[in-house]
Formats: sequence, structure tokens, C-alpha cells
Amino acid sequence: MKNSVLEELKSTDGFVSGEALSQKLGVSRTAVWKSINSLKEQGFTIESVRNKGYRLTSSPDRLSAVIIADGLETSTIGKKIVVLPNVDSTNDEVKRRAAAGEPEGLVVIAEHQSAGKGRFGRIWSSDSGGVYFTVLVRPELPPSDIASVTLAAGLAVCLAIREYTGLDAKIKWPNDIIIGRKKLCGILTEMSAQSDRIDFIAIGIGINVNHTFFPEEIKSKATSLYLETGERIDRNSFMRCVIKKLDTVLSSFFVSVSLDDEKLFEGLCATIGRSVTVQRNGEELSGIAEGITGSGELIINSDGKKTVIGSGEVTVQGIY
Ligand code: BTN
Repeated sequence: MKNSVLEELKSTDGFVSGEALSQKLGVSRTAVWKSINSLKEQGFTIESVRNKGYRLTSSPDRLSAVIIADGLETSTIGKKIVVLPNVDSTNDEVKRRAAAGEPEGLVVIAEHQSAGKGRFGRIWSSDSGGVYFTVLVRPELPPSDIASVTLAAGLAVCLAIREYTGLDAKIKWPNDIIIGRKKLCGILTEMSAQSDRIDFIAIGIGINVNHTFFPEEIKSKATSLYLETGERIDRNSFMRCVIKKLDTVLSSFFVSVSLDDEKLFEGLCATIGRSVTVQRNGEELSGIAEGITGSGELIINSDGKKTVIGSGEVTVQGIY
């Protein structure tokens, strides 16, 4: 019911009376009044004027599971959404819940993380204004497929950012989303598996959304949606868009187990066609990134010798 009052307020340009709301939604005036109070508690500003009714004047910049789930019709991802004001790491929270038997589709989102994790043991600083979340999936796949699951998730996030903002977001293989030369999003995937099958995967995603500045040391390498568009983003509706895309892209990926549309991936991958240096297992490999295989590996051409790599830390000339 709460959502319906919200929808009515959002779709009305001006005031709407308590009587009209109660008739339209088929509930009592008291139920409408309770809903209005609950929305106010969630941070919505609702003006109430005698003989005129209610008018929504602003929505909160606070993440809300109720608002994100409003109108979200997905097959798996986002079937359960949990928003936490604070957590050590959403990846660790999802891993704890997965170990306790949580079904796939759970999305845990946090306003802040006290121990946010990046790749290669780095810290992921989780300041206000971002979205930090982890998605739980339990695909029937061998553990060797984990790298391509990360790529499929990255593709989904990249497509969602493009759709929601119109920005020219690109993938920096394998795990980052960038705008121009700057990082907007990082992905850290963790897995629990037997020798032949995955038990679960926690796909952790951090996106810089409403950050207005970055510390000096990362300023030249990091950006946010706000800095790129000049507009504050409604994080709840943005999250709804991201979850929808993850649901569509991952469900088709889990059926075909290949980046079906690898040309789409290549077209969105800023790494392709550039000079790259890859660090892996203590060794360095340099060459031109020529393409992506169906299972998402990077093809590197070093003076005519082609090497296919599945993971690693990549420096791309002209990016970072
Ligand atoms: C990277 O670029 O190094 C990956 C960063 C991944 C950060 C996200 S934020 C949500 C989730 N929880 C974590 O602790 N890390 C990931």
C-alpha cells in the first residue's frame, strides 16, 4: 500500500486529497494517513495542506529496499533486497548469508562499508553517495567459469549506466567501468566452490554515484556519475535499473555460458585495440589487446605471438 501512495504522489503534479487517495487505492483514510507518515519517516518531504491534501516535494537520498523493489519485475536478481546503513563489506555479508543457506537473487546494499574490499587485497573506500552492493548467484557451472561471470556482470552494469545516464561508459577489462580515462566502478567477485561445481558467487560492485570530489591521490583516476553529468542521481531508481540489467544479462549468460554477444562486449571494451601490460603470477606481458574470446578471455598480440589470458592486473596505455 505504501508504494501505491508513493506512486500516486509521484504521478500527481500538485496536491492530491486524502479522500481521492483512499478512493483510488481502495483503502481507508487512516491507512492513507499511516502510509504518508511512514513515507515521511523514510525521508520523503510531503506537504499537507487542509482542504487540498498532500504534495510530494522531495524524495530522500537514502537507499531504501522498498523503493528499489517498487516496480522491479525480475526473474531472480533482486527477489530479496536488503539495505544496511553500515556493514563491514557487502561481499562478506552476502557470503555469511549464503553459507547459512540464502537462495540466489539476494542483493545486499550498504550506505557505508567499514572494511570495503577491492581486488588484490586493496581497500575500497566507501564514502557517502556511492552504491556498494553484492549480488548472490548460485549458477550450475564449474568454478573455471567465474571470470566470465564477472565479465557478464560488468557488461550489465556498463549497459545500465549507459541507459540511465546516456554517458559513454566503457569496460576496462576485466573488472572496471570507466568514463574517458577515469574509473567509475569496480567489481570484486568471490566464490565458494567444490572441485567441480560452484556453490555460490558473491558479485560485489561499487559505483561512484553522487561523489562531488575525490581525494588528491585518486582525483586524476576516479570519477562519479555526478561529476560526469552535473546532476545528482536518484540512487534508488538507478539501483532498480542496474538490478534489472543484471537480471537480464546474467540469466541469459547462465543459459549460454558465453558472452553471446561478444561483439557487443568488444564494442564496449576500452581495452581492445590498445597497448596493454598485464601482471600475472609475477610475470609481465606486453602487447596489443586484440579481442575477447567467447568465454571472455583477453587476446594479446605481442609481436605476432598471441596469448589468451583469463585474469590479471592490466595497465592500459592512455587509461590507467
Ligand atoms: C576493485 O575495483 O578493486 C573492486 C572493488 C569492489 C568494491 C565493491 S563495493 C561492494 C562490494 N563489497 C566489497 O567489500 N567490495 C565490493
